[in-house]
Amino acid sequence: MVPKRYLVTSALPYANGPLHVGHLAGAYLSADAYVRFLRLSGKDVVYVCGSDEHGAAVTIRAYKEGRTPQDIVDEYHERIRKAFEGVGMSFDIYHRTSAPLHHETSQEFFRDLYANGAFLEQESEQYFDTESNQFLADRYITGTCPKCGHLDAYGDQCENCGSTLSPTELIDPRSTISGSIPVMRKTKHWYLKLNEHEEWLRRWITEGKIDGEEVHQASAWKKHVVGQCKSWLDGGLVPRSITRDLSWGVDVPQEIPGSSGKKLYVWMDAPIGYISATKQWAKDNGQEWEPYWKDEETALVHFVGKDNIVFHCLIFPAILSAKGDYILPKNVPANQFVNLEGAKISTSRNWAVWIDEFLVDLPDYVDSLRYYLYKIMPEQRDSEFTWKGFQDAHNNELVNNLGNFVNRVLVLTNKYYEGIVPDFDESIALNSPADAGMPSWHDAEMLDLFDQLHEMREHIKSFDFRGALRTLLEISSKGNQLLAVNEPWKHVKEDPDGVKVIMNLALQYVTALSVACRPFLPFTSDKLRAMLGLPSFTDKDEFVNLMNELSEGANLIPAGNQLPSARHLFTRIEDEVVNKQLEKLKQSATANNIDEAELNQPLKDEIVFQDFEKLDLRTAKILEATAVPKTKKLLQLKLDLGFEQRTVVSGIAESYDPQSIVGKEVVLVANLAPRKIRGIESQGMVLLAENDEGNLGFVSPPQGWDSGDVVK
Ligand code: MF3
Ligand code: ZN
Repeated sequence: MVPKRYLVTSALPYANGPLHVGHLAGAYLSADAYVRFLRLSGKDVVYVCGSDEHGAAVTIRAYKEGRTPQDIVDEYHERIRKAFEGVGMSFDIYHRTSAPLHHETSQEFFRDLYANGAFLEQESEQYFDTESNQFLADRYITGTCPKCGHLDAYGDQCENCGSTLSPTELIDPRSTISGSIPVMRKTKHWYLKLNEHEEWLRRWITEGKIDGEEVHQASAWKKHVVGQCKSWLDGGLVPRSITRDLSWGVDVPQEIPGSSGKKLYVWMDAPIGYISATKQWAKDNGQEWEPYWKDEETALVHFVGKDNIVFHCLIFPAILSAKGDYILPKNVPANQFVNLEGAKISTSRNWAVWIDEFLVDLPDYVDSLRYYLYKIMPEQRDSEFTWKGFQDAHNNELVNNLGNFVNRVLVLTNKYYEGIVPDFDESIALNSPADAGMPSWHDAEMLDLFDQLHEMREHIKSFDFRGALRTLLEISSKGNQLLAVNEPWKHVKEDPDGVKVIMNLALQYVTALSVACRPFLPFTSDKLRAMLGLPSFTDKDEFVNLMNELSEGANLIPAGNQLPSARHLFTRIEDEVVNKQLEKLKQSATANNIDEAELNQPLKDEIVFQDFEKLDLRTAKILEATAVPKTKKLLQLKLDLGFEQRTVVSGIAESYDPQSIVGKEVVLVANLAPRKIRGIESQGMVLLAENDEGNLGFVSPPQGWDSGDVVK
């Protein structure tokens, strides 16, 4: 069934921090290309997003900074909105969950679900911080991990051993807000009976069926999305609390007994934000919102990151279903994560490429950033952003391929035809004179172009944006080949009529590219249109028109069209530009104490062999190992070199137990000048390798070798 209309959403970003490239590559650029493409294909589509402004993270931040929560979200809502605008996100509305309309909409959901018996009421004991006078969300309690003894485990998880915890398991719990010891207090909350939804959700996720009827094509969902849902379902769904004791958020409706002081859990109200955003859009544009959410012929598509999958595939659908007469998503094409220069993107450690900073530092390269993020989009697995990769993608693909093709075509058109699209004689474009009335060579190439654009469309339809981008580039590669093979510059004198066919065709290719690149590179598309002297886009039906014209054998840009003077589409990115960004990243990260071990260490400056030869490396055996008192990291080692013994202080206490390394064979820098460490003279240095986690391991000689052998 072809949908009558589309409602597309991107996850609402939390309004308590700025946007980074990981956000863009996760839930936003994919949706933007999809939506732009739908619009160009003449579809009725509404694309909504907005700021997610509730949740404990906002209140905590406000408390710590001595500001009001509203003040915090106002700041970030505006920053995020601007950053999205700067990178060309084409939302029909960017709303916010602090808006009264959203509060009303969420409360209506609560009331109806309450009335439908979708909730359980349950009393439990939770930690309460008497100093800051609030119940503590799991994240805001720290203590000692019961599993591994790590001192700073969170109430929901220990980051050291990875165990999932509950706050009551922590030893010596403390409030991260006030530092005080929290007390247990009774509190009552409402729970969504998710368990009652397990069965239909399973069938819906795995078979795409509701009551035996197919509502979406299950095989079109990404494997990792279905996989995550299945593992939740297999674990068994349990009632989930959907209210909190907080001072900031959507109030539980007043008339509900016991509602005082209770707010909706942020994951209860946020997805409803998609609905309130649609309502606001409809109000602003004199439209109806209900068909977009209630008509079976609407395709609802949620673009999210992988950490949002279960909320969009299980919990929100359960809420929609409990509410009644809402449609369910046709697909949730979630992306995985993007890492940055060898480490996880981390807001708290400032290990990120921030969008608002990018827009200030590199304002001319917005489409290049978009391009690179489509190229590395983590569609099936995690991927990696590097500044070098960004530079290479821009220089090799945008400048050398796309930009080069466009530039050559426009320069030659100016040179040969004073910037006027040349007409040509159809009979010259025939393969042979006998083919009169048959498709010409020009026609055949245009049909090829049609096929490639068709392929690009299929990729986008199946949420394969990397594939679509590759096809786009293939079109410009083909254009480059067309010029390279036919060498118009060689033949323009002796065969001017033949060259007109080639140049006309090349201009058709450039015109096709100006449409086809629009979903990915909107700014470049505008530029290209201007360079071709064509009207700028209305963003309506352009792709349909393009395909129709191609299939009817019509030209995309008419002969006789006058092009304005040629400009360059892209300029190269020099090393110093990206080096500066890399430097900035590392500096701001170290300022925040990022664990150096987590970074990909760049190679040091080149040395010559004579430099290396100065080192005297020897095999050695550990005879004794003891902890250096009052230090966490240091061990004192006694080493046997065969011809003498040495004392060495080594920073390996966090990786090795002293007992376990006696007898170990290691490699020693034997001619290092002695140094006093904690009052002990260290006579050399043991070689260690350090991995990404910061763990150290001995570099060992082959087993059973004598001590004192030379390593070279
Ligand atoms: N703010 C959430 C996040 O960044 C996403 C909310 S999506 C919504 O992970 F559906 F709840 F809106
Ligand atoms: Zn632990």
